Amino acid sequence: MTREMVDGFGRRIEYLRISVTDKCNLRCVYCMPEEGLPWLRRDEILDYEEIAEVVRVMAEMGLKRLRLTGGEPLVRKDLPRLVSLLSSIPGIEDIALSTNAVLLAPMARSLRDGGVTRVNISLDTLRPDRADAIARRPGTLARVLKGLDAAEAVGFEPIKINVVLMRGENDDEVADFAELSRQRPLHVRFIEVMPTESNLELSASNFLSCDEALAAVSEVHALEPVPGPPGNGPATYFSFPGAQGTIGVITPMSHNFCSRCNRMRLTADGQLRPCLFGTIQTPLRDALRRREDLRPLIEETLRIKPEKHLLVQGSSAGSGGLVALSQTGG
Ligand code: 5AD
Ligand code: SF4
Repeated sequence: MTREMVDGFGRRIEYLRISVTDKCNLRCVYCMPEEGLPWLRRDEILDYEEIAEVVRVMAEMGLKRLRLTGGEPLVRKDLPRLVSLLSSIPGIEDIALSTNAVLLAPMARSLRDGGVTRVNISLDTLRPDRADAIARRPGTLARVLKGLDAAEAVGFEPIKINVVLMRGENDDEVADFAELSRQRPLHVRFIEVMPTESNLELSASNFLSCDEALAAVSEVHALEPVPGPPGNGPATYFSFPGAQGTIGVITPMSHNFCSRCNRMRLTADGQLRPCLFGTIQTPLRDALRRREDLRPLIEETLRIKPEKHLLVQGSSAGSGGLVALSQTGG
């Protein structure tokens, strides 16, 4: 039996992003409406043993690397227990975490000990007033920076910072973020905002391409293309001579990278999604609870993985009517 998952376009899938909850303790303007979303019920969400079972089956098929996301994964109770379960599954080589870092400081050590080796932290601004406004929660920046310090202190490596670009909101901070990558071993990635149902206006009117952001940086400093830190993602990286970290760009809108896609996604309620966007998803939960073989369902999902997303600015049609990325794990 081959331990390999290859889709219909020859892409090898070795990476699964697992959304452990659809809930979040922030309300970032490009993600969720201020009032939140209709959350999943407890019984709709996979428990940790069920998540581990999906991973065990996929690891037998060739899965190697995992990322825990949300919503905000740290709002789910006792996440280090899930990390320990997952890290003991044969074939799993690497577990990463994507977090807003608000709750990270007290948990960093136990996550690291449990087997998370690296983290991505969402941080869209270095100014406290703006952070509160973007996250719609007071005191956000100080807590995130504490989480970031803790991440460095316990030795997550690499640490990546995700900056969603918004014209008129944080476009004047691109050089400041770049400077951060010079002074600290942090890998800052600028991300083009993607349209969903809850951000249609912002994602159209405040769109800023990564090309434009990079041009602003290279006016100040010379940038060299570099291989970048280890990871599974679609970013391309640059650095300043002598810098500790790098800066990278993730360009879902201006330069589609779907041909290099290496991933599938598992939503909190057990839908296996071959693409972040679009309507294709395979419900695994009921089969899991009936103790049926998951393998045919996973193979079918792999077979129908779309060639690329069809996102267009100003429309949520290409996203398959997705309300927010928090529902599919970003
Ligand atoms: N467009 C681009 N990035 C987004 N994120 C959340 N919603 C969007 C969006 N609509 C980012 C978060 C996080 C990452 C997982 O995805 O900021 O860093
Ligand atoms: Fe929460 Fe992340 Fe969405 Fe912000 S982007 S509201 S931190 S899930």
